[in-house]
Amino acid sequence: NTDYARYAGPVVPSGGVVARIIDEVYELCRADTSGTLADYIPELSAVQPDSFGICLATADGSIYGSGDLDAAFTIQSISKPFTYALALADRGVAEVARHIDVEPTGEPFNEISLDPQTQRPRNPMINAGAIAAAGLIKGTDAADRFARIRRSYSRFAGRELTMNDAVYASEARTGFRNRAIGYLLRGANIIDVDPDEAVDRYFRQCSIDVTCRDLAVMAATLANNGVNPLTRERALTGPLVEQVLSVMTTCGMYDAAGDWVTTVGLPAKSGVGGGILAVLPGQIGIAVYSPRLDAHGSSVRGVKACRELSSRLGLHFL
Ligand code: DON
Repeated sequence: NTDYARYAGPVVPSGGVVARIIDEVYELCRADTSGTLADYIPELSAVQPDSFGICLATADGSIYGSGDLDAAFTIQSISKPFTYALALADRGVAEVARHIDVEPTGEPFNEISLDPQTQRPRNPMINAGAIAAAGLIKGTDAADRFARIRRSYSRFAGRELTMNDAVYASEARTGFRNRAIGYLLRGANIIDVDPDEAVDRYFRQCSIDVTCRDLAVMAATLANNGVNPLTRERALTGPLVEQVLSVMTTCGMYDAAGDWVTTVGLPAKSGVGGGILAVLPGQIGIAVYSPRLDAHGSSVRGVKACRELSSRLGLHFL
């Protein structure tokens, strides 16, 4: 059903072995209670700090997991590759590239900066590039543009996703730094819509509720070359999947990208809601949820669990 032969990745071992390894990694990482909840968006600290789930979905639709697979949390920055994907589908790779570059920054996610030469945001995984991507989404009006984003994420997840109103309201009340970025983008003509509209769309997309299982299926849809392995619906074309995974590889973990690529070796994206999503192209999607974060804004147990899974299952392919 997909061009697996393009990828030289290892083969995931049979079901029983996968389930046992996930359980072992879960027990190992559960002991780690370090890190802190995000509280710069007040509502983000209103979660169960000890929640923890690990889910692995294969490109042919098998699902394995341990822990809290069905607890809802907001997708936050894990939304960025999916909105970038929709912008690419709406506008084409060349037009999006005129607005958003694909260079890693080595800087935190909320850095207020555009490339001084080109005035473009450096990549779509940092906030500047993500807000620019939200500004490029087509639609008849603001409501339609957000509805298209939500429907697109839902195709990846294989179920209807909805927005968490409390988290959205909390971010909309406090997101002044992101508004500054929106105005910078408008001033540089990177977006031609009202900057408040683009930033509001970004706040909304970050506030979409997902579960660990949803994120694993979204990752498996990327692994399966854009076709959801459960619903068989196409969420993205193959060439655009390649573009998105490439950018996740170099930029998805922000200023920890190098450390991540060397220790985990998979394209990935983290969010301050506590989720991490990683993809082994052609084979599997992995998601971890645990809301205590490290200094980069990534889940402490999530990073650790991905390292362990990658090493124990032999997933490091970069
Ligand atoms: O821009 C923000 O502040 C958030 N809504 C999303 C940030 C985020 O998830 C960063 N990633 N780790």
